[in-house]
Amino acid sequence: MNIVMVSSECAPFFKTGGLADVVAALPKALAKKSHKLTVFLPKHRGLPHDIASQLKFIGSFDVHVKWRKQYCGLLSYETDQVTYYFIDNEYYFNRAHLYDEMDDAERYVFFTHAFFKALEHLDATPDLIHCHDWQTALIPLYIKAGTYQRQVKTVFTIHNLKYQGIFPLSVFNELLHLDQIHLGGLEFRGAINFMKAALIHADWVTTVSPSYANEILDPYYGEGLESFLHERGTSLSGIVNGIDEDVYNPGNDLYVSIPYKKHYARKKENKRIMQQELDLTISKDIPMFAVISRLVEEKGLPLLVHILDELLTTESVQVVIMGTGESKFEEHFQAISNRYPNSCRFMNVFQEGLARRLYASSDFFLMPSRFEPCGLSQLIALRYETVPLVRETGGLKDTIQPYNEFTGEGNGFSFTNYNANDFLNTIRYGIHLYHQPKHWNQLLKNIYKSKLNWEHSAGQYEDIYKKLLNPKNEEEP
Ligand code: GLC
Repeated sequence: MNIVMVSSECAPFFKTGGLADVVAALPKALAKKSHKLTVFLPKHRGLPHDIASQLKFIGSFDVHVKWRKQYCGLLSYETDQVTYYFIDNEYYFNRAHLYDEMDDAERYVFFTHAFFKALEHLDATPDLIHCHDWQTALIPLYIKAGTYQRQVKTVFTIHNLKYQGIFPLSVFNELLHLDQIHLGGLEFRGAINFMKAALIHADWVTTVSPSYANEILDPYYGEGLESFLHERGTSLSGIVNGIDEDVYNPGNDLYVSIPYKKHYARKKENKRIMQQELDLTISKDIPMFAVISRLVEEKGLPLLVHILDELLTTESVQVVIMGTGESKFEEHFQAISNRYPNSCRFMNVFQEGLARRLYASSDFFLMPSRFEPCGLSQLIALRYETVPLVRETGGLKDTIQPYNEFTGEGNGFSFTNYNANDFLNTIRYGIHLYHQPKHWNQLLKNIYKSKLNWEHSAGQYEDIYKKLLNPKNEEEP
């Protein structure tokens, strides 16, 4: 199959979150299955120099936005498996931020039209277009509206329903160049909602775990869009993300001080080095808990705020928190870190290398999310042989099975209700088992067996593509 993916970010080019990792890894996994994969991206600021110097200029054309024509350059970057195309317009994309600029609607409408124009320019007719998140959510609508010649099947993946691309109603007349009959498929609660357009017009909608696919039918998780998701019936499904096991590999990770693989003693050496560096009490027997997260409410940080004092005063533990985000969390974690200099450290940064070393050094990884479409950090934790302790929601529920000391099964710890007591009790239970080698070793053994790569999930996407392209075959027995 000839598959085109469209996204606003992709590692290693530009990354603000897990979306970039998925769009980096999934096309490669599909290319391994002998499909032709092409990825379209905006050319944001900050492309790494070694990549920028290899870009090939393909051509340029005008894109109609508002009452003006805007320049669009098309550049390509080839790898063995995937071809990337960058949509170039300095005015729209050479910005400090990928999102949350004043004119996001205009920037991503430009991107959408530029994408179609690029397909025309390349004279490319893909079998299928796979769009990711609200920035690309207008593509299925323009295809259904017949604005562009190509009638192609579309798949739309929701990475996080909370971010929908909501703009003033005036955007419809000013920017979208659509007939009035299309307003209904875009308008929601008096505003223009890009995400809604995809939920209605895409041929298939996926999200990044089966549990989240189910949860978003409920108003608690549906962010207001649950009725449109219900309407989809069987063409809404959840496929869990994987991670690129070559990128995340404690056995040869250059950032990790003492590389290790299924070797607990070597892993513990990393903890000692980290303790030394952070000026924490040096001891291999004190369990170290790591939190590496954007500091926002949905990651369950209010629960952590509630329990930290009690945890640090009643248990012999170390807690290391890394991340940036809302100032109320930053201030709180800084204060706690000052209060418990031997056992708590807050690093108010996000640095890839430091993050990898923290995954490698810690014993537990905490992720008490209020909701979590998939979550990649718990998978990275498993890969670095660190025990995830999560709330049972979305992808966390689908990837972490609580350890059962009677059957010896499970790869982590989990709690059900969004409740600080349950969180603290689960941490206490984890500490209890940490000090029982029989159970801890069994838990680590289970973790060593984790299958985290994309192989299986890429196959599930492939099945959806096939269903859409050959609907008749499906009906045959
Ligand atoms: C978003 C979600 C996260 C998911 C990622 C990649 O960042 O919040 O749960 O893992 O997208 O799909």
